[in-house]
Amino acid sequence: MVANRRNLIFRVSIVINIAVLLYAAMHLSANTAPGVVWVPLTVDGSERSAEYRYFNRDDRNETETRPGDSSARSFEESTSQKTPSTMATTNKTASSTASIPEIEKKSISAAPEAEASNATLLEIDDEDSLSPTTQAYLRTLLGCNDKDMLPHTEQRGEFWVLKNYIRGDHGMISCHESVTYTTHAGYEFLDNVQPLVERWMAPVSLAIHAPGADLTPTVNSIRYLRDCLSNELVKQYVTFHLFFSHKHIPSKIPDPESLLQTPYNCTGRPPYENVTTTYMKEKNLLYPVNVARNIARDAAVTYFILPSDIELYPSPNLIPRFLNMIARNSKPLSTSKNPRVFPISIFEVDAKVQVPSTKTELRAMLANKTAIPFHKFVCPNCHNIPQGQQWMNAVETNQMDVFHVGKRRGKFVHWEPIFIGTHQDPYYDERLSWQGKKDKMTQGYILCVKDYDFMILNNAFLIHKPGIKHYVKNAKRDAIAGRQSTFVKNVIMPELKKLFGTRNGCAL
Ligand SMILES: *[C@@H]1O[C@H](CO)[C@@H](O)[C@H](O)[C@H]1NC(C)=O
Ligand SMILES: *[C@@H]1O[C@H](CO)[C@@H](O)[C@H](O)[C@H]1NC(C)=O
Ligand SMILES: *[C@@H]1O[C@H](CO)[C@@H](O)[C@H](O)[C@H]1NC(C)=O
Ligand SMILES: *[C@@H]1O[C@H](CO)[C@@H](O)[C@H](O)[C@H]1NC(C)=O
Ligand SMILES: *[C@@H]1O[C@H](CO)[C@@H](O)[C@H](O)[C@H]1NC(C)=O
Repeated sequence: MVANRRNLIFRVSIVINIAVLLYAAMHLSANTAPGVVWVPLTVDGSERSAEYRYFNRDDRNETETRPGDSSARSFEESTSQKTPSTMATTNKTASSTASIPEIEKKSISAAPEAEASNATLLEIDDEDSLSPTTQAYLRTLLGCNDKDMLPHTEQRGEFWVLKNYIRGDHGMISCHESVTYTTHAGYEFLDNVQPLVERWMAPVSLAIHAPGADLTPTVNSIRYLRDCLSNELVKQYVTFHLFFSHKHIPSKIPDPESLLQTPYNCTGRPPYENVTTTYMKEKNLLYPVNVARNIARDAAVTYFILPSDIELYPSPNLIPRFLNMIARNSKPLSTSKNPRVFPISIFEVDAKVQVPSTKTELRAMLANKTAIPFHKFVCPNCHNIPQGQQWMNAVETNQMDVFHVGKRRGKFVHWEPIFIGTHQDPYYDERLSWQGKKDKMTQGYILCVKDYDFMILNNAFLIHKPGIKHYVKNAKRDAIAGRQSTFVKNVIMPELKKLFGTRNGCAL
């Protein structure tokens, strides 16, 4: 009897052991070779290692390092040595959809000692760089998930999108360690890429509208920018996405891999210079500006993004100063519970002058009128910033802070700010075209109804490509703008009211 029972237990335990072994084997085989099925493997494995650079860091060889990065593991090690109880809690499963206020609530209530040690931890010596401690703190605070950067051909309404068509050589970027400048253009605007990236020095996600015959000069322009400039910053930082309507498919779409293997012939002038006409203009196509904005934003792998127009050049060192401010998390960041974005003041400068690098320089130029607030002569109310005059009067300080918390209400009800935000902010309405104007107003309305705080940054600014713009009448564009305005009023507004509700003082 006893022997029988022992026998049974023995057999059952063998079965269980085999089950456990099988389960473990399945699990291991699923986990040890992440993404391999998706990646073409050449005989020597070179394709795979090239692709591997863009994979989620969690899947990568932990000891691998990149230039300018002392690797995630060493951040955690170095900080957990100092504060084992607080900084070792980097939660990889934390949801990236949590808003900052939620995260703050969590970190304040869940770990009061984190708050206390925050002050001692974050001794920021250099506002222009991010120390490993600050990076580790940001990672905990933002609780974001790293994203892959794999190429993908996908559809978006009537458009085909070649996402990550040509990627920046930077490889994998963690979501907390930088800010992505997301923008869009037709190839005739690509002269802006170099001055932009020289000031930004961080990832740029650029969606290019390339219908029909515009594809070839677009691809040549990308190759020129990567291979023929005096520095390699474009190659390093800029990721290009192409898109076009299914009604305007280019006759031939080059394979990016083979393009990258052939160096471009740099003897000619840049293909984006002095473009007089394009396929888009000849066919009278509308520029799908909001489709472009949303493509560029979706492809960005960082938690914070700066959706902007390609002709707006940011002030240098904006990213480390901004992220140090976020990590310091002092008032009003730590107290306001509303969702927030961080508007950046915009200026125009004279065609003949140097773009200013500091607020001090900018203020001197404002004083002698070589710089003016953006669109002063085109649409002053669109870019009037709350406390704009006070901002210009305020001297530069030695760290980035929130200058003023404004709302898109009252005098600023039509404000079209450019701001650093996150992937949680409302998208742009893809039915609106650039020619139709006011293409960002519907997003502005949603931000207002959701009671967003507009936390205007003190020392940061954007400078439009040199040359002061004056209003030029364009009857054809005005007709399109009239139609779009009616469409927004009669179709989009009722939708937004149903979806997001209303709030006193909010208007388009
Ligand atoms: C990880 O990278 C290190 C250094 O590059 C290398 O020595 C090691 O063999 C790699 N390990 C794996 C599992 O690929
Ligand atoms: C990580 O986040 C999950 C989900 O929010 C939570 O259940 C878990 O307790 C967290 N772990 C740590 C170590 O904070
Ligand atoms: C590059 O183009 C120039 C002018 O079009 C031509 O003269 C030159 O031979 C080309 N160079 C190469 C390496 O093909
Ligand atoms: C474009 O125009 C500039 C100045 O107007 C001129 O210097 C340059 O050579 C032109 N480039 C081409 C490709 O025609
Ligand atoms: C205006 O001020 C800037 C910055 O100080 C200076 O570089 C520039 O030469 C000045 N221009 C004129 C016309 O005074």
